[in-house]
Amino acid sequence: MPAVSAIDAAYRQFLKPFLFSLDAEYAHRLTIRMLSLMPPFPPPRERPELAIKLWGIDFPNPIGLAAGMDKDAVAIRGWETLGFGFAELGTITPRAQAGNETPRLWRIPERRALINRLGFPSEGMAAVAPRIERMRKAGISIRLGLNFGPNSDTPPEGVAADYTALMERLGPLADFIVINVSSPNTPGLRNWQSPEKMSELFAAMREKAGEPRPVLVKIAPDLERNELFRICETALELGVDGIVACNTSVAREALGVSSPHPGGLSGRPILIRARELIRDIHTHTRGKIPIIGVGGVSTAEDAWLHIRAGAALVELYTALIYEGPGVAERIKAGLADLLRRNGFRSISEVVGIDR
Ligand code: FNR
Repeated sequence: MPAVSAIDAAYRQFLKPFLFSLDAEYAHRLTIRMLSLMPPFPPPRERPELAIKLWGIDFPNPIGLAAGMDKDAVAIRGWETLGFGFAELGTITPRAQAGNETPRLWRIPERRALINRLGFPSEGMAAVAPRIERMRKAGISIRLGLNFGPNSDTPPEGVAADYTALMERLGPLADFIVINVSSPNTPGLRNWQSPEKMSELFAAMREKAGEPRPVLVKIAPDLERNELFRICETALELGVDGIVACNTSVAREALGVSSPHPGGLSGRPILIRARELIRDIHTHTRGKIPIIGVGGVSTAEDAWLHIRAGAALVELYTALIYEGPGVAERIKAGLADLLRRNGFRSISEVVGIDR
């Protein structure tokens, strides 16, 4: 694969201006298509000091692709080639659905942010499963998280069955599973963050599908502190394997400019809020529950501070749009440098040291 600096320069000079001249969702579809057609370059060489083991799984590095970018698992090889240690695919719903009406994705370039109200467009689990099976057979080094959500026309009493069906069909194909109860664009979904609802969900999943893989819960940044602490306690009681913090935000204060668009805010404006959540979860669970830190990360320093606050793994989405395809490799190089300069030998030594 060509040097990261050459890829970044080409992205900034040619591809980004072109993509930014298009409708945001069309540009996204084009990008995913390009990635899915990318020839299978060998993945970049990994740095042993960035490897980390969690739930018995060896992650080649702690930088992952956040959910939403590759909802239908069409570009797995591409994410591996770009240097991601893992990719969270999805949100996948049981049945195929179109999502909300368009327009539903907007850029706010001056704030390096996005707002979306996609509402889980998904080809459904029957289409996604064979794609992952094929990649597993072909052999991949990237780890795969699968992010699950209910169909939008599923009534509240059917939501647990939706997660269970996903778990049964896709669970065995995942390295880890993320239960998404925090997207702001599916009405009522965030109610499942309540301790009672979370307990109900986990009981149903365990009864029906067992737990073939580590199961994590993805939470919203818009929780009150006491709500967050109750979630932490419930997660400890239920033996939840991890918390993904955080999803997009419905708050707009951190955006700093007015925006007429409804939906979830991502990117730089939510960086500090994400870090606050990571630190609170790590402190409140006394480091007992692994955290995937996500929100606003675009540089090695951002990832470093999420890790110091308590994240064992870090994910990004919006930075890929603004910084380009070299972003994971650039962050990894920077992390290796920060480790060396601060006298650490392995990234796992840094997790939560700010607590
Ligand atoms: C997302 N995100 C998201 N999360 C999720 O759990 N399921 C999903 O389907 C989606 N879809 C989605 C679409 C778009 C367009 C964006 C920008 C984001 C949220 C994403 O995984 C992440 O939590 C946030 O975007 C915060 O990270 P960044 O983007 O600031 O790095």
